[in-house]
Amino acid sequence: MTREELLQELEQLKDEGKYPNIDRETAQYMYDLIVDAQLTSIFEFGAANGYSTIWLAMAAQAIGGQVITTEWGKERFAVLLENLQASGLDSYVTAHNRDALEVIAEVDKIDFSFIDAMARQYIDYFKALEPHLSDHAIVVADNVVSHREKLQDFLEYVKMSPQYTSEELALGKGILVIRKK
Ligand SMILES: C[S@@+](CC[C@H](N)C(=O)[O-])C[C@H]1O[C@@H](n2cnc3c(N)ncnc32)[C@H](O)[C@@H]1O
Repeated sequence: MTREELLQELEQLKDEGKYPNIDRETAQYMYDLIVDAQLTSIFEFGAANGYSTIWLAMAAQAIGGQVITTEWGKERFAVLLENLQASGLDSYVTAHNRDALEVIAEVDKIDFSFIDAMARQYIDYFKALEPHLSDHAIVVADNVVSHREKLQDFLEYVKMSPQYTSEELALGKGILVIRKK
């Protein structure tokens, strides 16, 4: 199976409601962001079966970067590893079957992060991420339209923090793109 066929198969599973993945438009947007700004050190909160992870890994491959991802569900983690192997990009990804909050505490500098795990915890993820963000870091948070109520504290925190600029884009379930000033 080619990588494109794998992506299409995963998109079909998403359309059937089996996995809550981002759509291709959002994935392509993040790919372009990472490649254009050469954001080589990438951290993902919530991989599920790895659709977004494969896109992050494609970007990492294009610029000589590396992805650290996290998925605490046992079954989903097993599927994630299978899909990463099928994509041929597993050497660009270190995947952890643990709480993302534990893993982020152990990493060094992060240039790009994708937050797509539990809505009520975005504020915790972001605060845990902050000490690791490099000067030119970009963070993308998913579901800011679909889960706006649950993300209120996070959205407020980002807006009130003078060291960031942020913009909301109407891609997929709504993403917030946060840039360090
Ligand atoms: C929306 S899905 C991720 C979809 C994936 N980013 C994609 O677009 O292909 C969210 C995933 O985060 C996982 N998750 C939630 N909280 C987590 C945590 N604290 N640490 C690790 N994984 C977590 C869930 O098990 C779920 O599979």
